[in-house]
Amino acid sequence: MKIDLIAGARPNFMKIAPIIDAIKVAQSKGENIEYRLVHTGQHYDKNMSGSFFEQLGIPLPDINLEAGSGSQAEQTAKIMIGYESLLQKESTDYCLVVGDVTSTMACSIVAKKMNIKVIHVEGGIRSWDLTMPEEINRMVTDSITDYFFTTSETANNNLMNNGIPKDRIFYVGNTMIDTLLKHRPNFIKPAIWEKVDLEENNYIVMTLHRPASVDEEKILKELIDEIMVHSQNIPIIFPVHPRTAKQLESLGISYPNLHTVEPLSYLEFNYLVERAKAVITDSGGITEETTVLNIPCMTLRDNTERPETVDIGTNELLGVNPKSIGPAMKNLFSDTWKKGQIPYLWDGKTTERIVQHLLSL
Ligand code: UD1
Repeated sequence: MKIDLIAGARPNFMKIAPIIDAIKVAQSKGENIEYRLVHTGQHYDKNMSGSFFEQLGIPLPDINLEAGSGSQAEQTAKIMIGYESLLQKESTDYCLVVGDVTSTMACSIVAKKMNIKVIHVEGGIRSWDLTMPEEINRMVTDSITDYFFTTSETANNNLMNNGIPKDRIFYVGNTMIDTLLKHRPNFIKPAIWEKVDLEENNYIVMTLHRPASVDEEKILKELIDEIMVHSQNIPIIFPVHPRTAKQLESLGISYPNLHTVEPLSYLEFNYLVERAKAVITDSGGITEETTVLNIPCMTLRDNTERPETVDIGTNELLGVNPKSIGPAMKNLFSDTWKKGQIPYLWDGKTTERIVQHLLSL
């Protein structure tokens, strides 16, 4: 059995790493399963890609399609052309994609058109917000996926409501959490800790990169201003995504307790998150990690494709209206933030289950 594993952008790498580990375990037991790691090159620099490979022990990609930056259509086109040409030279039995980035959708379309079975890890989740490129990627990918590995009951229901038969859906848990739990003992203190003299439970980590929060300068400025006004002067550590950096430069925002840093490596970022008073983010994956680490999380989005992080986890949806920030910060500083629970099967053994299912396909 030959499988292509597709990794393209930062949030893919922590999902692919434990799948490779689990495949290697199966190989060592003599199972007939081979993989080819295809990096699309959507993210390409050390901060966004290279450091994740090093820290998570991901082998060098067998192939790099070197798609690079560009508009949504340019990236999609470059990835599709590169992957099609690879499959024409050497085909595969299955194409396994993870998450919801442009690479996920682009490679699944190419594979399916060449009659290769598509496997989607993290299939079925929906924000129902078609202004997000990720939602379009999810819907397109799931519409042509053969086998779904899912993280939640909600995802299962979304798929079944779309007419997908139960026997193509495998509820296995969350691969990101396999990576989080495996590497938790090895998180690395980032340089900013000493530089700012951070104290446990007395700083906030912030990440913002979605077009809805950062592409409009006015929205970005209002959000950051409001967060700072309610921060009670504790340090706000803000690893800045390249998309956001471009906007921030022209805004000239400056507060004594706002500390911007380059995007952090995986082990450094989670060191900060594990000890933070809270996280403010517009990411989806981070809400899963904060749920498992039991850290209060404020999401600056109107919706989420991961409702379990709100229903039973530590996450609250604040939307992109700056007015919602004050009350949430008050709740945080009065130490009345809800306590979370960990969703079913987010136990660090998800990729073991995935490989068992793969072997039985
Ligand atoms: C992508 C994903 C998003 C994910 C995010 C995590 C899609 C549609 N979106 O968004 O789901 O949460 O990655 O980071 O796939 N850039 C660099 N270095 C790099 C990569 C990108 O400087 O290694 C710059 C690009 O030139 C561009 C900006 O970052 O200006 C955005 O990159 P892009 O891949 O277009 O999308 P993201 O916003 O990162």
